[in-house]
Amino acid sequence: MGKYIMSGMIRRIKEEAMGKTIIKAIPNGPLVVEGDIEVIDAKGVKTSSEGRTVLLCRCGQSKNKPFCDRSHVACGFKDP
Ligand code: FES
Repeated sequence: MGKYIMSGMIRRIKEEAMGKTIIKAIPNGPLVVEGDIEVIDAKGVKTSSEGRTVLLCRCGQSKNKPFCDRSHVACGFKDP
């Protein structure tokens, strides 16, 4: 999936959110989270979205879990 196509999807999800939290799966890619959230990783480190778009890995290959680092592209992740 090209970076361009993913940017367009994220923009549409941002528009849909409008004050609520939306979690949406990008085909063959991460979960896009739009809205104010806190992510607490396995070590207890807390990250606040503070209005930013958060991409959560669902391929299992990210070196920066739970966040997506685009490793899904290199590993050829496909939706089950
Ligand atoms: S979904 Fe992007 S690195 Fe896993």
